[in-house]
Amino acid sequence: MQYDLTDNITSKSTKGSAIFGVFSDKNVNTLSKSVSASDLKAIKGIINNSSFEGKINQNLCIYESSNQRIEKIYLVGLGDKDKYNEKKFLKSVISSCELFKKENLKNIYFCIDSFISSDISLNWAVRNISIHINGIDYEYNDTKNKTKNKNPYKISKFIFKFNSIRKNYKENIKKYFAQGAAIANGIKLAKNLGDLPSNICTPTYLANTAKKLGKSNKKLNIKIHNEKEMKSMGMNCLLSVGNGSEEPSKLITIKYNGAGKNQKPIALVGKGITFDTGGISIKPSNGMDEMKYDMCGAASVLGTMKAISELNLKINVVCVVASAENMPSGTATNPGDVVTTMSGQTVEILNTDAEGRLVLCDALTYVSRFKPKHIIDVATLTGAVLVALGKVASGVLSNDEKLTEKIKNSSNISHDYVWELPMWEEFQSELDSNFADIANIGKRYAGTITAACFLSRFTEEFSWAHLDIAGTAWNEGANKGGTGRPVSLLTHLLLEDAKSL
Ligand code: BES
Ligand code: MN
Ligand code: ZN
Repeated sequence: MQYDLTDNITSKSTKGSAIFGVFSDKNVNTLSKSVSASDLKAIKGIINNSSFEGKINQNLCIYESSNQRIEKIYLVGLGDKDKYNEKKFLKSVISSCELFKKENLKNIYFCIDSFISSDISLNWAVRNISIHINGIDYEYNDTKNKTKNKNPYKISKFIFKFNSIRKNYKENIKKYFAQGAAIANGIKLAKNLGDLPSNICTPTYLANTAKKLGKSNKKLNIKIHNEKEMKSMGMNCLLSVGNGSEEPSKLITIKYNGAGKNQKPIALVGKGITFDTGGISIKPSNGMDEMKYDMCGAASVLGTMKAISELNLKINVVCVVASAENMPSGTATNPGDVVTTMSGQTVEILNTDAEGRLVLCDALTYVSRFKPKHIIDVATLTGAVLVALGKVASGVLSNDEKLTEKIKNSSNISHDYVWELPMWEEFQSELDSNFADIANIGKRYAGTITAACFLSRFTEEFSWAHLDIAGTAWNEGANKGGTGRPVSLLTHLLLEDAKSL
């Protein structure tokens, strides 16, 4: 998609449709900077004769324009002016995108002044518009034949129409538009990996995706460890999860070197269970198909690596994906089995369905060799996080308050929400075992916290945070599909670290 900026639609301009935001007061006087006085008068008349009330998700199409270059004018509702904020802005952008798609608009003049208020920054707005318009063409088609859409809707040219352009606008828009486009590309990758079924998206497929990504940028370095190599590193706990599966487990490492060698990397670790049957502690069959999404932590860290490498950020990042398929079979791990982790600690696997922590613990030990300044793991780890936070917020649990603050800050800026749960030492005794150093499950309550407590045993020397995305990684029901969360949050965090926000 091309983009441009202008403050004047002249006879030489691209022909396109103009989009304006209108509050519930239906005051359209600000349009006077973009349309003629007679058009404005006509627009006022049309509004008054319509059911358009300027509410969010409402829109009105106006066909009249004396400017030959403006094909149609669309008014998009923004709700009440005094309640307008970033959230409402995002809603109006999403509803604008639905309108663009429905009307198949190719060239768009987005009259941005009408969408911005004093507490919405232009740079933030441009990044977010870019995330949404560049994400508009994501459609899952890979395994469709009859209903395959070969030409998903795409905008051809998106023009930011300003009342007046200031000196630094061109440069800033370039920068923030590019950030949004990279985030959108990361989200699309994450959505697609999530949506692919487990007979396609296997651990090997994830490894190949990483290899392919590695070819796109010289700053990326890919290493895939196979089962034999993991065995020799002592990753028995990770390997115990894939024991029952025909699919070989993979440990995927992506290094992104955007800064000097002496700069410590941030480590991202993703849970990549390409299907979670529960293993011998098998899950009920209802809705089990959704466990193809159990690799969404991996998908989100891969998507984030794609985004930061497209932006060539001047930071170092190391990404590790622990990937396996959790199946029951004659070779599967049994409840009660004890394994020795790469850290040397032994684990009693009381429930083979608590497998995410089993693959992550060895990946967390492994990633310590890169001496990261922070470790952030991302995982569809517990059903309990859905009970606590629903599908709105991811859970964040950490051993470092400062890192938690950074994550919360990125969450606030990206509107990719997280909520903190406590990690007090009182929870740790839940993991006591009579037969090993640690049990892999707690008792009945606080399942998200006890899962994080398990992980904390492997990150004691590091600044570490865990994101439980079991509720936020995909939508259920009619809109079933990956969300790409928390690619936006993670990319914002890394942009902040690179001082590029
Ligand atoms: N992948 C699941 C978590 C999950 C459940 C994600 C539902 C999304 C929706 C994880 O591996 C799991 O099975 N967790 C168990 C842990 C329990 C056995 C301690 C859970 O949450 O029930
Ligand atoms: Mn499980
Ligand atoms: Zn799982």
